[in-house]
Amino acid sequence: MVTGGAGFIGSAVCRHLVGTGSYRVVNLDKLTYAGNLTSLRDLEGHPNYVFRHADICDTDKVRQILADEQVDLVMHLAAESHVDRSIDGPMAFVTTNVVGTASLLSAVLDHWRGLGEDARKRFRFHHVSTDEVFGDLPFDSGVFTEESPYKPSSPYSASKAASDHFVRAWHETYGLPVVLSNCSNNYGPYHFPEKLIPLVIANALDEQPLPVYGKGANIRDWLFVEDHARALETVMTRGRVGDSYNIGGRAERTNLEVVETICALLDARRPRASGRSHLDLITYVTDRPGHDRRYAIDPTKSERELGWTPLETFETGLARTVDWYLANGWWWRPIREQRFDGSRQGLVGAK
Ligand code: NAD
Ligand code: TYD
Repeated sequence: MVTGGAGFIGSAVCRHLVGTGSYRVVNLDKLTYAGNLTSLRDLEGHPNYVFRHADICDTDKVRQILADEQVDLVMHLAAESHVDRSIDGPMAFVTTNVVGTASLLSAVLDHWRGLGEDARKRFRFHHVSTDEVFGDLPFDSGVFTEESPYKPSSPYSASKAASDHFVRAWHETYGLPVVLSNCSNNYGPYHFPEKLIPLVIANALDEQPLPVYGKGANIRDWLFVEDHARALETVMTRGRVGDSYNIGGRAERTNLEVVETICALLDARRPRASGRSHLDLITYVTDRPGHDRRYAIDPTKSERELGWTPLETFETGLARTVDWYLANGWWWRPIREQRFDGSRQGLVGAK
């Protein structure tokens, strides 16, 4: 079972797992504003894929689905995932990420207890989390390891930190075989166009301003979503029970570098009618309140113990991403028209 399989990373995971031919995937998703079944168009009708519409907070329904579908592995991605939305409305993050994860754990524990001995041993609950639980780093030093202390800054990262603690508690207290992973910023196809990279691509194609928070000096460590999906399979199948794994692409960039690279890719592929560079659209806007300076993942443990390495560099992954958005307006244009028009979010409380 993949929870949140209609989201950005979850849909990449569903496509990857079904594509291996080794799994039958049950996608459990509530279909919030961020969920899109169109991202899974290629899997519709596939014998090894089924969609189940449910909220992870609905313990009875989830318990029933776990039993009906005879689930033997759970990969948990369902969440509210956008930092700016967590500034505007933190309670949805507490409900889904904290209460929802604990509700899901309760249903999964009941299901796990009812399995035979061999199935109980093989069972895994894999919690997909973020490096943002570790807070932020100085601009010029340090990396996050699996031992970094938890120090979340935003309502989003605080809710994810709480969910990590609940997952560990279900392991320590009830013996549920769990494994965790904390990854850096993902990017790639089917990314909801409110996050930096897809927002900038869509705005640039629509001749809209490209909003850069503050001076654009904040640093993120970028990971191509398909590299992440492969990493998640290895964590789920080969990770040590009770352990966590950091996953990152060793690709730190300032936000301004990211936006400038997108502009250069678009200048080459889709020149503006005016003949001017897309760089002209860059607009510096009020900074995010509590904006974490820098994230940087040390993925050594995942590389050494799981044998995982990313296949894309930031440059090749970003070029693939820009090409995908150029070719797939059918996916993102209706979202911009009907669900999110690109307006600024997360300014509540900004100084
Ligand atoms: P997303 O917002 O694109 O998708 C979230 C999915 O969860 C949606 O399909 C939504 O409908 C579903 N969902 C939300 N609430 C639900 C509920 N109560 N019950 C069932 N389904 C529900 O998110 P994403 O970017 O794909 O992130 C997936 C996971 O990875 C999240 O747990 C997130 O915290 C984590 N993560 C994401 C990133 C990133 O860069 N995107 C980085 C680190 C970790
Ligand atoms: P985002 O994609 O929201 O991911 P996260 O906050 O989880 O890292 O933002 C990535 C970075 O880009 C972050 O430092 C905030 C910045 N940003 C902008 O400068 N402009 C924007 O319009 C958005 C959405 C983000």
